[in-house]
Amino acid sequence: MLTIADLKQRARRRVPKMFFDYADSGAWTESTYRANEADFAAIKLRQRVLVDMTNRSLESTMIGQTVAMPVALAPTGLTGMQHADGEMLAAQAAEEFGVPFTLSTMSICSIEDVASVTTKPFWFQLYVMKDRDFVANLIDRAKAANCSALMLTADLQILGQRHKDLRNGLSAPPKFTPKHIWQMATRPAWCMGMLGTSRRTFRNIAGHAKGVTDLSSLSAWTAEQFDPQLSWKDVEWIKERWGGKLIIKGILDAEDARMAAATGADAIIVSNHGGRQLDGAPSSISVLPEIVDAVGDRIEVHFDGGIRSGQDVLKALCLGAKGTYIGRPFLYGLGAGGKAGVRLALDIIRKELDVTLALCGKRNIADAGPDLLYKAPGKAAP
Ligand SMILES: Cc1cc2nc3c(=O)[nH]c(=O)nc-3n(C[C@H](O)[C@H](O)[C@H](O)COP(=O)(O)O)c2cc1C
Repeated sequence: MLTIADLKQRARRRVPKMFFDYADSGAWTESTYRANEADFAAIKLRQRVLVDMTNRSLESTMIGQTVAMPVALAPTGLTGMQHADGEMLAAQAAEEFGVPFTLSTMSICSIEDVASVTTKPFWFQLYVMKDRDFVANLIDRAKAANCSALMLTADLQILGQRHKDLRNGLSAPPKFTPKHIWQMATRPAWCMGMLGTSRRTFRNIAGHAKGVTDLSSLSAWTAEQFDPQLSWKDVEWIKERWGGKLIIKGILDAEDARMAAATGADAIIVSNHGGRQLDGAPSSISVLPEIVDAVGDRIEVHFDGGIRSGQDVLKALCLGAKGTYIGRPFLYGLGAGGKAGVRLALDIIRKELDVTLALCGKRNIADAGPDLLYKAPGKAAP
């Protein structure tokens, strides 16, 4: 397997359809999901020759933390349904590789589960629920687990409709209807893994949120509990309660970027949630330059959405991102081969990034800038 597309193909064969589709889907017509990838292809790189290509380095920093390359694992819900104990395995792969892992609030493995199998701090992504005691408790648990950044997701106060999930009747754990039994029975390795673990539900929530004792009430609870009134004011108390590095995720507009910078957060992520929220919104990469222009001198700008290769990472860095995240690429790796698959996804991206940087005539990732992008004569740079 040489590419992220190869991992995706393998994952499709190994993961039950409802969970594979959960990863491989966007909201409504999926136009933004598609644009995230397609718009990268339109950006061309500038080839340079006969330059010294020895001693190359991809090492960088994100919010002051050293990273082996500026590519973190994005928070993704239900990761433990792509592969048994998925979040724990992905966190271990990221730790071994030297890049940050971000645990989603909507994970299968809990904050404590991930902390129990890692030795370095990971990052925690926060969804804000109406039950503020529960939110405060989540923040405290992330602190107790020694998480080194809190990532507040701002673009999912209500859920964008994803047709595949509705048609598939997605749930965690899966229901036992004939359709779902068939989907699982045709993926025996996945079933064996799931039989070997007790982690099959939302463990950050079950047993922690008031009144949530069984799964049917849990799904009702999550649908009801995301807070549609979340506002910039709330960022203040979250920041104060947390007291550490704060990243605001889901910024797609220069005006919102300015508001985010004014909160004193450490970084923003230019993101449209992988095309899973507002279908019809622009691709992440197409708005990155204007957001960097607006706030790049005041706050660290990170990026996600549509990265499928190391070349895409380089393009995002050239357009001003200080760091990037991958969602689906690592999920496909996980589905395809567990921890080794995540490791392979990271290796693939690293190799592509390294060689591309060299062929653009640079040896250090810190030198990625707009001058590495091809500008057709008479045309403005992308
Ligand atoms: C299956 C899946 C689940 C996701 N769950 C979350 C989540 O729980 N919290 C969150 O902030 N973002 C979530 N995201 C969005 C990712 O963090 C990230 O923004 C997106 O995947 C980036 O696009 P990419 O998949 O093209 O790399 C999810 C994305 C996917 C694909």
